[in-house]
Amino acid sequence: MLFHKDRHAKLEVYNDINSNLVNLFKCVKYHPNAIKDELENLLYSRETFSFFKDMHKNPNLTDIQRAAMFFYLIRTSFASKVVNFGSKHKDATNTDRLAEIRERLKAVVIENKDFAALIKQYDRPHTLFYCDPPYYGTERYYDHGGAPFTKEMHQKLAEILRNIKGRVILSYNDDGFIRELYKGFNIEEISRQNNLSPTAGREAYRELIIRNYS
Ligand SMILES: C[S@@+](CC[C@H](N)C(=O)[O-])C[C@H]1O[C@@H](n2cnc3c(N)ncnc32)[C@H](O)[C@@H]1O
Repeated sequence: MLFHKDRHAKLEVYNDINSNLVNLFKCVKYHPNAIKDELENLLYSRETFSFFKDMHKNPNLTDIQRAAMFFYLIRTSFASKVVNFGSKHKDATNTDRLAEIRERLKAVVIENKDFAALIKQYDRPHTLFYCDPPYYGTERYYDHGGAPFTKEMHQKLAEILRNIKGRVILSYNDDGFIRELYKGFNIEEISRQNNLSPTAGREAYRELIIRNYS
């Protein structure tokens, strides 16, 4: 969402509990050329993928090494989930877009907090939160870099968002439990192509856009 929108507020904050993602953004923001150097001579191979999959968790890496490995893993994994190697024809080490991404991140604050702490810290009457939580029932497919996202956490998020001063837009999968959690909110149904299914492109995937304002 961030990269599809131009800057729209004086203060923009990006948050994720996954420290690898946050470290990648930080390094792209401050050291894009160092990331480029790390990636330049890598092969697009299953062997490198498997090696980096273990290695990127090594605490002795520099932030730049970790960021470059994570970037590689995102680019070479099936559905960018950093779980299985996906040999799609694309240049995994192509860093052409880094300059553009760096430009977008220039004035963005990058946080690495649990959603509850983050929302509490930034909630004001003029705040607009865009929340993209793990979809209900598919939590295991995300590398949270932390504790798994439980049913109770979905409930906690809903409870917090019911009581914020600011506005919120949430995206979720269309599910009875989620509809029940956000009863009374403005719920819009949309459908998009499911690019991640084996019959990709043929199936429609139903999602909800949920807002606390009309
Ligand atoms: C549907 S993904 C959205 C990712 C991101 N918005 C994107 O488009 O690439 C859900 C994200 O929630 C993050 N997450 C999981 N538990 C969290 C928590 N307790 N607080 C904040 N973020 C969390 C995961 O790390 C994951 O990146």
